[in-house]
Amino acid sequence: MATLWGGRFTKETDQKVFDFNASIRFDKRLAEMDITGSVSHATMLKRAGIISAEDATAIIDGLMSIRDDLLKGDLFIDESFEDIHSFVEAKLIERIGDAGKKLHTGRSRNDQVALDMRLYTRTYVITIHERLKNLLFVIYDLMESNLDTYMPGFTHLQKAQPVTLAHHLGAYFEMFKRDQGRLYDLFKRMNYCPLGAGALAGTTYPLDRDFTASLLDFYGPTSNSMDSVSDRDYLLEFLSDLSIIAMHLSRFSEEIILWNSNEYGFIELDDAYSTGSSIMPQKKNPDIAELVRGKTGRVYGALMSLLTTMKGLPLAYNKDMQEDKEVSFDSMDTVNSCLELFTGMLSTTKFNKKKMEESAVKGFTNATDAADYLVKKGMPFRDAHSVIGRLVLYCIDQGISIDEVDIGKLKEFSELFDEDVYEAISLKTCVERRLTVGAPGIEAMKSVLVEYKKYLEEQNSEV
Ligand code: ARG
Repeated sequence: MATLWGGRFTKETDQKVFDFNASIRFDKRLAEMDITGSVSHATMLKRAGIISAEDATAIIDGLMSIRDDLLKGDLFIDESFEDIHSFVEAKLIERIGDAGKKLHTGRSRNDQVALDMRLYTRTYVITIHERLKNLLFVIYDLMESNLDTYMPGFTHLQKAQPVTLAHHLGAYFEMFKRDQGRLYDLFKRMNYCPLGAGALAGTTYPLDRDFTASLLDFYGPTSNSMDSVSDRDYLLEFLSDLSIIAMHLSRFSEEIILWNSNEYGFIELDDAYSTGSSIMPQKKNPDIAELVRGKTGRVYGALMSLLTTMKGLPLAYNKDMQEDKEVSFDSMDTVNSCLELFTGMLSTTKFNKKKMEESAVKGFTNATDAADYLVKKGMPFRDAHSVIGRLVLYCIDQGISIDEVDIGKLKEFSELFDEDVYEAISLKTCVERRLTVGAPGIEAMKSVLVEYKKYLEEQNSEV
């Protein structure tokens, strides 16, 4: 049981109380950030003349040696300490003696943990942004090679109108691009340094907060010390962004699962990304997609958990905030691995173009175009809608598609039908004539792809 605050107490903390209160079991992940923050703090204390140059050098060297030993595996994080901050400080004092006791000058664990968590989250914002970029590249490549892969577009999971695979995938490109935008916005908002806020009310030492902020690559220091130690908005935003990413991945996974089913047969997952059944030898299951879909729940849960933790907290720091860590770490890990696995799965998936096209032909996806054909010949749309409705009913009865009905029969439904109808309602025409901005026609899609390419090239230099 090792604490930083024994002075005021006359009795040992009960072991169960200590264990309940301790966070080292999970905040040991922050070791590297804690050391980085402390090195910057010591550098600033020296520059501001608050500690001597010798003490600062001893502190910084001591912290570096702790970092090296942790990395090499020569030092293990001892979980009998209360938290990672206590552990690092105790090790420092053990290694360099009294100089180590000066590190915490003008600092509290409240601004220290606020800094560590922000630094840690910042690296994950960048990592997740990067993972999204990799996924966008895979989607882009698939779009480029599937501009004329026809497939049914669905509403209510019923075949609606024909689209292309490129167009369908383009919808996900948009979603993940927005996800990146949200992370970018978050980065800009959160990239301010809380260190120097002290316990809640700043400090009487002449800290140079601008300097510490610049050492740690922040845009500047935070502006209100009470807010600095009690703000977890950036984590809530991140968890919300991660929830939306998880939701997008989950929707995409759901489609992968459907498309991979025997009934659809639109895709075949690579063996490396599928699993078998212990009893049914014929099975090749889409477990990765199902897990990505399933893990969405815990990411949403983390967001709800932290929102609820924060809702009743008076200013400034309260121990409740320690509860920010486990759920956040879990969500960061979860979405990070979901993105990695999903990207690998998608990039190795084989698309059965023939099956997709056949499905588009069979599902009356050209019914709207058949109605539009009659409109172009002069019939009001409402009437055309009704004629084609009756025609579809006839086709369902006969087990054929509209373009399989001969012209003589078509004329029984409307005199306006002519030989040119077959061309007008062919799958190719139905898709290719859809050229409005954002529509699936090849030419419309090509200009979107030019934009996407520019976006992907540019974003290499962002964040
Ligand atoms: N483990 C604590 C947390 O995560 C560190 C801050 C402790 N501060 C305090 N006043 N007890 O929030």
